[in-house]
Amino acid sequence: MSGITTAEQVIRRIWSFSKALDLALIDEEVRKGFKIEIGCGHGERVGYISMRLGHILGLKGSDLFFLMIAGLMHDIGAVGGFAEYHGNSRLMELHSGLGAKIMSDFPGGDILSEAITYHHKTPEDNLEIPVMAQIISLADKLDIMMERKIATYRDRARILNHVTHLAGKDFFPGVADALVQLAGEEAFWLYLNEGELLEPTLAFLCKRRVQEHFEFRKICDLMFGELFTQQLSDTFAFLIDQKSTFTGRHSRSVAENAYAMAMELGWGTEQCREIKLAGLLHDLGKLAVPQKILDKAGSLNEEEVQIIRTHTYYTHNLLSAAGFARNVVEWASYHHERLDGRGYPFRVPVTSLTTGCRIMTIADIFTALTEDRPYRNGLSEEKAMEIIRSGVHSTVDEELVSTAEKALL
Ligand SMILES: [Fe+2]
Ligand SMILES: [Fe+2]
Ligand SMILES: [Fe+2]
Ligand SMILES: [Fe+2]
Repeated sequence: MSGITTAEQVIRRIWSFSKALDLALIDEEVRKGFKIEIGCGHGERVGYISMRLGHILGLKGSDLFFLMIAGLMHDIGAVGGFAEYHGNSRLMELHSGLGAKIMSDFPGGDILSEAITYHHKTPEDNLEIPVMAQIISLADKLDIMMERKIATYRDRARILNHVTHLAGKDFFPGVADALVQLAGEEAFWLYLNEGELLEPTLAFLCKRRVQEHFEFRKICDLMFGELFTQQLSDTFAFLIDQKSTFTGRHSRSVAENAYAMAMELGWGTEQCREIKLAGLLHDLGKLAVPQKILDKAGSLNEEEVQIIRTHTYYTHNLLSAAGFARNVVEWASYHHERLDGRGYPFRVPVTSLTTGCRIMTIADIFTALTEDRPYRNGLSEEKAMEIIRSGVHSTVDEELVSTAEKALL
């Protein structure tokens, strides 16, 4: 599937990217000293809670849809370099502003960026705050109050008490009332406790109200086609690359080099576009790798190597869940697999390594070798190609190395 047109596919795609974002934010939180397990999606929870509150407050159709997206992506500006952002007002402003700027290029960008700009505002700021931001502000704090553990009956009462007590100060009164209403629904808490929120979100947005679903479909057809996927891919390539000081343009360069090789082979326009997309997203799972490992100056220990090696596993899972075509998923996530079957993370046999996968491996190695790393300067293109050639048969495909020599030198 290259183009996406139904509401359900759009939601699955953006949800998967929000999971990638959550993996990156967990790294930030781990660096702050919190003990947080991978998979405790803050964005997913804020997206779900916001959507439920928004519905009670009368938001419908496209507004509810955009609110859910703004909730999923509200901390997108906090990826990379904002280890202390919560509790520090300047950095709270900074990540809100940066996130709003990133999302302003998306379909519905005006609405999304307004909701994200003000997502840490409270009534005490004495400003006119748009209702979506008021909702996300409470949803964000609610998720933090729940401390990512099972909310018992007593926890719920304590949280509600706290919210109603501080309505008008920390929480906007209308949204606080909506939470009181929502809290009466047992399933709301049970879904949050269980943590699997995509299916209930899909059920809520797509399957309940036929009339509203019709409106989503119109929006999705109009606004969330090819351009939306391109925007997501460009944005996440940028986030991956800025995570480490040494990978400034890595994803974008891999995409360009893979594209150049595919062109050299005479591939058609659609396939060339797809391999570029796969290149942009090949290291998506690196968002889950702590920055201190990515930037480590010395050699990595055994455990750090294992952690780095998880990245293509996450790339594979995230892109599969996002509904990308199988060839795109494989081209992106098999770039550390090897012709001798000793690669990672799947140990894919040589017979399953298609031309696109083999192109990506060469594009990735070539790009990495020509870039600076903490422990060495970038090599010349000729030297890089010489090293790649020495891996013919074990790592890389002989004919494709010749293609790379023509396309990249
Ligand atoms: Fe935030
Ligand atoms: Fe947040
Ligand atoms: Fe990689
Ligand atoms: Fe890479």
